[in-house]
Amino acid sequence: MTGNSTPTLKSRPVFAWIYDRLARNMERGPVGRYRRELLAPVTGKVIEIGGGTGENIKHYSPLTTQVVLSEPDRFMLKRAQHRDVRHASHLEFVRAPGENLPFGDETFDAAVATLVLCSVTDQAVVLGEIKRVLRPGGTLHFFEHVLDEDSERIARRQRRWAGIWSRVGAGCRPDRTTAQAIEEAGFEISELRQFPMPGAPKLVRPHIFGEALKPE
Ligand SMILES: C[S@@+](CC[C@H](N)C(=O)[O-])C[C@H]1O[C@@H](n2cnc3c(N)ncnc32)[C@H](O)[C@@H]1O
Repeated sequence: MTGNSTPTLKSRPVFAWIYDRLARNMERGPVGRYRRELLAPVTGKVIEIGGGTGENIKHYSPLTTQVVLSEPDRFMLKRAQHRDVRHASHLEFVRAPGENLPFGDETFDAAVATLVLCSVTDQAVVLGEIKRVLRPGGTLHFFEHVLDEDSERIARRQRRWAGIWSRVGAGCRPDRTTAQAIEEAGFEISELRQFPMPGAPKLVRPHIFGEALKPE
C-alpha cells in the first residue's frame, strides 16, 4: 500500500488461470443466472470494478453505451481482453485498482461490482471512488459473498478462517459486511437480497445481490 491507500498492482498468473476455469464452470450454474439478472437493467456509461477474466462481458445489454472494465491484475485483464466481445464493441479495458480509478468525477451512469468487494484492499476507499465517478442518481449494481449475519456460528467460522482463506484466495475475505459498507459510503440501497449460494463452499456461501443509488 502507498500512503494514499492505493494498493500496488500485483498480478498472479496462476490465480488468473485457476479463476478463469472456475468462473467459466460457475457460469453454468446459479452464478451465471445472477450475473445475467444483475446486468440486464444496467444502461448508459458503465464502470466495472475488478472485472477479472471478463465473465460479465457477455451479459451487458446493448443499451449500454460504453463499458469500462477496470482490473488491477494484468493476467486477469489479458484474459478478459481475449473474450468474445462481439456484443460489446463499446468495451474498454483499464488496468487500475478500485482504490484509484483514473476517471473524473461523475463520469459514469452505473457501476458494477461482482465478487470483488471481498478482495479489494480497502473497501471504504473503493466505495468512495465508485461514488466519486458515478453521476448523482447513478447506480451501483452488486453481487457479492459476505459475512453471514443470520448465523453467529457461521460468522465465527468465517472470521476464524479469513486470514488463511485470504492468503490462498488472492486476498478474498469471507468476513466482510459489504451491504453495511455500501450504506456507510453514502449510497442508498434500493434493492437487497440475501441468500445462500447453492453449491458454494460454506465459508463463502452467504451472498448479497442488489442495487444502490448515489443520492442526487
Ligand atoms: C474473485 S475475482 C472476481 C472477478 C470478477 N469481478 C468476476 O465477477 O468474476 C476478484 C477480482 O478482484 C480483483 N481485485 C483484487 N484487488 C482489487 C482492487 N484493489 N481493486 C480492484 N479489483 C481488485 C482481482 O484481481 C480479481 O480479478
